[in-house]
Amino acid sequence: MADTSSKPAASAEVAASPQSPSSPPKSVASPNSPSSPPPEPELAAPLEVDEEDEVNDPTLDGQLSSFTASLSSSVLDYPVEHGRRYHAYRKGSYLFPNDDREAERLDVMHQLTTQTIGGLYLAPVDKEIVHNILDIGTGTGSLAIELAEEFPNARVLGCDLSPIQPSWVPPNVQFEVDDVESEWLYPFKFDLIINRCMAGSIGDWNALSKKIYDNLTPGGWVEFQDYDIDYRSDDRSLTEDHHFRKWNKVLVKALTDIDRDPCPGPKLRSYAEKAGFVNIREEVFKVPLGPWAKDPYLKHIGMINLVQMLDGLEAFSLKVFDMIGYSEAETQVLLAKVRDEVKGRAFHAYEKIHVVYGQKPESTT
Ligand SMILES: C[S@@+](CC[C@H](N)C(=O)[O-])C[C@H]1O[C@@H](n2cnc3c(N)ncnc32)[C@H](O)[C@@H]1O
Repeated sequence: MADTSSKPAASAEVAASPQSPSSPPKSVASPNSPSSPPPEPELAAPLEVDEEDEVNDPTLDGQLSSFTASLSSSVLDYPVEHGRRYHAYRKGSYLFPNDDREAERLDVMHQLTTQTIGGLYLAPVDKEIVHNILDIGTGTGSLAIELAEEFPNARVLGCDLSPIQPSWVPPNVQFEVDDVESEWLYPFKFDLIINRCMAGSIGDWNALSKKIYDNLTPGGWVEFQDYDIDYRSDDRSLTEDHHFRKWNKVLVKALTDIDRDPCPGPKLRSYAEKAGFVNIREEVFKVPLGPWAKDPYLKHIGMINLVQMLDGLEAFSLKVFDMIGYSEAETQVLLAKVRDEVKGRAFHAYEKIHVVYGQKPESTT
C-alpha cells in the first residue's frame, strides 16, 4: 500500500494495484509517525512463494517497466472531455470530473456538509477506542485530514478512484487509489467508516453497506451522510415550468436509469438495517439553494450551496446530458437559463441531506 501523502503520482501507481488492477490494496502499513498511530496490523497469513517463478528471469526488467507504465496510465492517464478532466482508474464508472475546478467545488461541499450537520460526523463514537478510520470516496481528502486531526491516535485511510488528495497531510492520514465497489481485502478492521456524499457514485448500496459491516470491528460505527438532490420547495414556488426543475429532473432520471442513485439519502437507513447495524439513528437537514431562508444560519448555508451549485452545474451535467443525447450546446443553453433562475431567486428550493449512523453489534452470536 502506498503512501500518497508525499508523492501522489508515484505512490498512486503502487496503491492501485498491489495484486492486479481489479484488487484493492492489502494494507495501510507505515504511517509516517511511529509515535502516534497504533501498532501495525499484521497480515493474517505468510505469503506463499510461487515455486515456478524464475529467479533469474531475464525478461523481468522489461516486465517491470511495462508493468509500471500500465499502472501509471491506469491511474493517471486522465481522459479530458468537454474541457473537463475525468478519472482514469476504472475509467467511466464515475461521471463527474476530477480536475482542479471540481476539487475546489468538493471543498465547498465539505464546508456545506460539515456546517449543515454541525461537524465532521454525528455518531457517538468513543474516541479512546477508535484506532482505524476509513473515509470512502475521500475526494480532496478534506474530511480524512480533519478526522486525522480530531483523532490523533488513530490512522485514517481515505480511498478514491482519483489520486487528487494533497501531499502535505497529518502523519496519521493516508490515501490510496481504490474502487470501493470491488472486493475489500483489508487485513484488519476499522472502528469507524464514513461514507459521505456518494450520491451518483455507487451502483450497489446494499453490497457496499454489507462490505462496510464486514470490515468494522464489533461495536464499530458506520456513518452515511448523503443527499437527496431532488430539489423541492415548501411554498410551491418551484414549479414544473422552471428550467431548474427540468434540469434537476433530467439529471435525477439519467443517473437513476444507469444505477447511480443521485438520491440515496432517504434509503440510507434501510441499507444500514439490512446490513445488520443496530442503534441506528437518522437526522435529516434541509439545505436551501440561495440566501432566501429567514433563519440567518440557513441563509449562510444557502449561500454556500449556491456557490457550489453555480460551480457544479457543468460538472454535474456535461457528461450525463451527453450520455442521454444532449449536444454540448443544448446543455450549455439549458445551464445558462438555470443559472439565471438560481441567481434571480426565482424560487425557494432546497435539497436534503440525510445522516444515518449505526453500530455493528458487539457480539454477532
Ligand atoms: C462527490 S465526491 C465526494 C467526496 C468526499 N466523500 C466528500 O464528501 O468530500 C465523490 C467522490 O467519490 C469518488 N468515487 C466515486 N466512485 C467511487 C468508487 N467506486 N470507489 C472509490 N471512490 C469513488 C469520486 O472519485 C469522488 O472523489
